[in-house]
Amino acid sequence: MENKVITISHQKGGVGKSTVALNLAIELSKSHNVAVIDLDHQRSMTIFQGIRESKNLPELKVIIAEDDKSLMHLMNTYEGILIIDSGGFDSDLNRLAMLGSDMIITPVSNSLIELYGLEKFKIIISELKEINPKIKAHVLLNNINPSATTLVDDLKGFLLSDDDETFNVINGIMRQRADYRKSFELGKSVVEMDPKGKAAEEVNTIIKHLEVLLELK
Ligand SMILES: Nc1ncnc2c1ncn2[C@@H]1O[C@H](COP(=O)(O)OP(=O)(O)OP(=O)(O)O)[C@@H](O)[C@H]1O
Ligand SMILES: [Mg+2]
Repeated sequence: MENKVITISHQKGGVGKSTVALNLAIELSKSHNVAVIDLDHQRSMTIFQGIRESKNLPELKVIIAEDDKSLMHLMNTYEGILIIDSGGFDSDLNRLAMLGSDMIITPVSNSLIELYGLEKFKIIISELKEINPKIKAHVLLNNINPSATTLVDDLKGFLLSDDDETFNVINGIMRQRADYRKSFELGKSVVEMDPKGKAAEEVNTIIKHLEVLLELK
């Protein structure tokens, strides 16, 4: 069984970390052994699983890691795919998760304020690079206005023109859709909620790319 750790991280709040985490976790758990580590004090993923339980939906394994020892232990021993949902802040635990990950995914939208937030995140990555020079963040464009096309290309160009290769851009984007918000409230992934919907199509495309990038199949 493959052991992989994916950390969803950005020190900026509300960019869609938990939305990405839950959709990836539920979809990947259909063919892999998946657990989520909830590193956020708001406990979004724990709440999400609570909703699932109240509706008798299949369990999503959500584990709370309180300290670096238990986080390290899980990362080193879990047999399957660990998806770490970190909070919208910088912390030693988040940094530890990033350092020990096979992939860091950073949701980013296409506004100026988001780019400013990403510049700050880049400082954190640069500091981690001193420990592991290979570290980089895979940017996942999320919450993108459905009519914005050129902006998306501009943003991709901006991210990829970065000389020190801090960022990569994931193939596939999640646009701004009410379904992402609604599905959380129902305790479901967007694919579970509406398998033929546009959001489901977006998530399925991203999963396919991740399976290739992480050599999951
Ligand atoms: N693609 C999208 N379309 C519409 N709404 C979205 C999308 N992505 C996220 N949202 C909504 O934006 C809000 C913030 O998303 P989410 O909680 O996933 O962010 P977060 O980065 O985990 O936040 P925090 O830093 O507080 O943990 C939620 O209400 C969520 O439903
Ligand atoms: Mg969150």
